[in-house]
Amino acid sequence: MKSLVLYYSQKGSNRYLAEKIAQELQCDIEPIRPRVDALLLMIMGLHLGNKKLLHDVGSYDLIILCGPIWVEQFIAPFRFFVKSNFNSIKQLVFVTCCGSSYEQKDEKYGHGRVFNKVRELLKEKCTLCQAFPISLVLPADKKEDGELKMKTHLNDENFKGEIAERFEEFISGLKNYPSYRQVLDMA
Ligand SMILES: Cc1cc2nc3c(=O)[nH]c(=O)nc-3n(C[C@H](O)[C@H](O)[C@H](O)COP(=O)(O)O)c2cc1C
Repeated sequence: MKSLVLYYSQKGSNRYLAEKIAQELQCDIEPIRPRVDALLLMIMGLHLGNKKLLHDVGSYDLIILCGPIWVEQFIAPFRFFVKSNFNSIKQLVFVTCCGSSYEQKDEKYGHGRVFNKVRELLKEKCTLCQAFPISLVLPADKKEDGELKMKTHLNDENFKGEIAERFEEFISGLKNYPSYRQVLDMA
């Protein structure tokens, strides 16, 4: 199973996550680099495309796309990537370190709504979406603290406890991906 991790990150959490996934799977990794890397423009949909990737998407069995969620969007650089590589993508897993918690996933701005968009776009090519909400690394009494959520980024210090356990589970699923996929297909 040949995998490629592609990521986009502004504040570092998704880069951290992407690097950890690539390290665990011992696979290739590359950032998606928007031609114009301006958050506001990308949120408004004024995206001028991405720079050319060094890796050949079509030569991988699995693309693992890792990046943030902004205002309930599957972010523009990822939408552009999917659009321009649709025929070359065999299977894709979407992973995000985001602001919305598991409890909030189906509410406005929740990651569950974005997962629906990803599945709609990729159809049977996307068998798995996984969130690692930043609240997983906050103390129990601060999980709803919006300001703290925005200030907190994943790092070696805080990547422990529940997030590390969930990450381990996710990785072992990916390592057994073809059979894991069958389980998902049956679900
Ligand atoms: C402008 C903006 C909008 C955001 N909107 C959402 C959202 O709709 N849902 C969500 O779960 N998180 C949202 N977030 C939180 C980011 O997904 C979160 O901070 C992410 O971890 C940042 O990733 P990075 O450190 O890799 O840049 C938003 C963050 C920003 C800056």
